[in-house]
Amino acid sequence: MRTLTDPVDLIGASPAIAVVRDEIDYASRCDAKVLITGESGVGKEVVARLIHAASERRHFPLVTVNCAALTETLLETELFGHVRGSFTGAFRDRTGVLEQAHRGTVFMDEVGETTPRMQGLLLRFLETGEIQRVGSEKTEARVNVRVIAATNRNLVDAVASKAFRDDLYYRINVIQLHLPPLRERLEDVAALLPYFLEMFAAQYSTPVPTVSSDAMALLETYHWPGNVRELKNVAERLVVRSRNGTIGVQDLPMNLLRAEPQAPAAPAVSHSRADSLYERVVAARESFWSAVYAPFMSRDMTRDDLRALVRKGLEQTGGNYRVLTELFNMPAADYKRFLNFLRKHHCHVAFQQYRTIQGRPLSMPAESVAERKVGAR
Ligand SMILES: Nc1ncnc2c1ncn2[C@@H]1O[C@H](COP(=O)(O)OP(=O)(O)O)[C@@H](O)[C@H]1O
Ligand SMILES: [Mg+2]
Repeated sequence: MRTLTDPVDLIGASPAIAVVRDEIDYASRCDAKVLITGESGVGKEVVARLIHAASERRHFPLVTVNCAALTETLLETELFGHVRGSFTGAFRDRTGVLEQAHRGTVFMDEVGETTPRMQGLLLRFLETGEIQRVGSEKTEARVNVRVIAATNRNLVDAVASKAFRDDLYYRINVIQLHLPPLRERLEDVAALLPYFLEMFAAQYSTPVPTVSSDAMALLETYHWPGNVRELKNVAERLVVRSRNGTIGVQDLPMNLLRAEPQAPAAPAVSHSRADSLYERVVAARESFWSAVYAPFMSRDMTRDDLRALVRKGLEQTGGNYRVLTELFNMPAADYKRFLNFLRKHHCHVAFQQYRTIQGRPLSMPAESVAERKVGAR
C-alpha cells in the first residue's frame, strides 16, 4: 500500500491525450467509480492520481493497492484489516486500506488479477460500504471511499470466460477511461522525452542533453512495448550516460536500434465495420457489450460505425429498440442501459423512419404514442 502525494503531470500533445484530459476533468467532477484500462506503463496510475487530485476528495487520502502483488489472504488483510489473533503474528487490530482512505480514494491496480473469492468480497464492499476485518464476525465500520480501478487485461474477455465476475465488472465500470499504447500516439514522444530528460537532468544535476535528429527519428518510430515507462527509463539512461551533451543514434539502447521501425497503421476501413459487427452480434450471437461496446469505449470504433450498426439493426426490427436489444444479444433487462449508452454518445438514431406498416412509414403522432408505451422516450 502506498499513499500518494507528490504531484504528477500528464504530458502529451496527441489527440488521444487531449481526450484523456477531458475525461479526467469529467471524472473529477463526479464521484462515480472509474475503470482505467490500457497496457502496462501507459500512465493509468498517473490518471488515477490526477482524478483524485482534482476531485472533492483531494483533502483526504489517495491510497493505492496493487492487487496482483499480494496473495489473496494478504490482499484481504491489506484491504479490510484484521483483528488481533486472527492469524499467527496478528498481535493487534489493524485497519485496512479501505478504512484508511475514508472520504478519499482507493486506487486498485491490476484488479483483473483478483481471485473469485476476492471479487466476491469486493462486490459486497462496493454494494454496502461495510468493512469486515479478517477474523471478525461483525461489521467494523462503514466507509465512504471512491474506487478507481485499473487493469491491463481485457476484462470483457475475462468476463466472457468467467474469470472475472460480470456483476463486479459492471459495478466498477461506471466511467471507463482507456489509455492507448504509446505506439498508437507516437507524437507524444516529442513531448515526453524532453520532459523526462529535464526531470532526470535536474535529479542528477547534469545539463539537459540535446537529442540529434536521427536519434529522435528512431525514438519516434520505435514501437515502445513498455510504453511511457520504457521511455522514461531510456531517458534516465541517456541523462546518466550522455557525456558530451548530445545524444546520437549510437547512444541509444541496443534493443531500440535493433527494432524494426513500425509500419504506419493501416487506414481504418469503416464502411464495412458496421457490417462485420452486425455479423458478429446477429449471426455469431456475440453480445453487443463485448463485440461493440468494448471496442467503442476503447476507441477502436467510431461513432459513425456505431450509428451505422444501429441503423442496420433498426431496419431489421422495424424501428423497435426493444427488439433490437435482443437482436444484439443482450438480455431484455439491458434495454435501458443500451439506450442510455447510445444517447450518452450521441448514437441514438431516430426510430421513426424505420417504423413501417407494410412498407409505409407510420404517421408521426401514432408513432410517438407507440414508442412512449415501450418507454423509449
Ligand atoms: N502522459 C504521461 N506524462 C508523464 N508521465 C507519464 C505519463 N504516462 C506515464 N508516465 C510515467 O510513466 C510511468 C508509468 O506510468 P504508470 O501510470 O505507472 O503506468 P501504468 O499504471 O499504466 O502501468 C510512471 O513513472 C509515470 O509517471
Ligand atoms: Mg501501474
